[in-house]
Amino acid sequence: MEPIKGFSKLSKEAKIEWLVKEYLDNDKSAYDLIHSYWHSDKKVQKLHDEFIENTITNFYMPYGIAPNFLINGKLYCIPMAIEESSVVAAAAKAANYWLQRGGFKAEVISMLKNGQVHFAYYGDYDKLLKFFNRIKYKFFEDTAEITANMRKRGGGIRDIQIINKTFEEPNYYQLNATFETGDAMGANFINSCLEQLAQTFKRELAEANEIEEEFRDIMVIMCISSNYTPECLVHAEVKCPISDLTDFEGIKPEEFAKKFEQAIHVARIEPYRATTHNKGIFNGIDAVVLATGNDFRAIEAGGHTYASRTGQYRSLSDVSIDDGVFRFWIEVPISLGTVGGITTLHPMVKLSHKILGNPNSAELMKIVAVAGLAQNFGAVSSLVTTGIQRGHMKMHLLNILNQLEATESEKEQIVEYFKTRVVTFAAVAEIFSKVRGGKVNSKK
Ligand code: MEV
Repeated sequence: MEPIKGFSKLSKEAKIEWLVKEYLDNDKSAYDLIHSYWHSDKKVQKLHDEFIENTITNFYMPYGIAPNFLINGKLYCIPMAIEESSVVAAAAKAANYWLQRGGFKAEVISMLKNGQVHFAYYGDYDKLLKFFNRIKYKFFEDTAEITANMRKRGGGIRDIQIINKTFEEPNYYQLNATFETGDAMGANFINSCLEQLAQTFKRELAEANEIEEEFRDIMVIMCISSNYTPECLVHAEVKCPISDLTDFEGIKPEEFAKKFEQAIHVARIEPYRATTHNKGIFNGIDAVVLATGNDFRAIEAGGHTYASRTGQYRSLSDVSIDDGVFRFWIEVPISLGTVGGITTLHPMVKLSHKILGNPNSAELMKIVAVAGLAQNFGAVSSLVTTGIQRGHMKMHLLNILNQLEATESEKEQIVEYFKTRVVTFAAVAEIFSKVRGGKVNSKK
């Protein structure tokens, strides 16, 4: 096979034809499958085509909703885009559970974002610092045009500092800038500002060069916004008297609370568990972030770094049991937007925002944190009671049946059969062959 030149310039049809011929054995059914995922409305399809480069079709993900989320006294129905069978069910279950117990409380702690101009400097730090402080106002002057609209909306550059990193890497420094970006996620805005900061820095250094020889060798390495946003932080929690922790398969509330607390302590000190624990949290967070058109990779990356802020990777959620009160909370950086990006373009994303009552970014941060906490509550409470597989495999049953190409009536019988039995792939396959052969009465 030869590498292809100018692929991005080919028409969409030509790209598909090339792909099917070169990589899919010229299989007509592959060609038809790709086309079958096109949207019937040409305008909508064009919109999707233009989100990325080399689009040939769409990739479906289930879009579910978890109703009954009471957050700060307001009821939300939360949209979630995710492929994992049990996530929406667990979210909905946790929402209902806490609906009976006062709901979720959430609060945005801060909404600062940041980015860095990374550079190398080989001279005296004090001289650089003095020079920086002398010209600092020029950074604000030179970015005034870029920040004008953001400033009108209450955002902009909050501060710029010089950071000395030479104790970790020789000659390495940063211009570290902090930003408020209102309802926008703000990565583009931040990157534009940072590139201007670098220009200003270079220009001012070149001028100062004539007086200060040392400034000649400064090298700007790169300018980029950071996805680690420890000051764009949200807190969400639930609490209730321990005696209210009922409905866990007859387990006494005190025992449940104790086991739950121990499970959180395990995730606090044991990175193997913390990773899976936080993965469960991101099951909830990512699903809402995706449904609302935000960048789940950025939010996950920032969340994992935050989980490591003490030098060890730990749980993002925590628990306390004091004076007979169970309190469970999460604190996590969530940098997202409710304007810009695909939030005002993608029809399903727009629908998600509408379902949520068109929240601003602070409100959406709270909703997302709550979804993460709810998911974590669901996972940990299953783990310390019934185990995770019962719920998981029940939800997975339909996937297995679809894999076996069961008919609707076969599915109905087999789902009924497993209402009182443990789901395993082998058990499903066995009962499936019996049902298909007419050899089973699933109600028995
Ligand atoms: C599975 O996607 C997520 C869980 O493993 C999370 C956890 O163990 O807490 C159930």
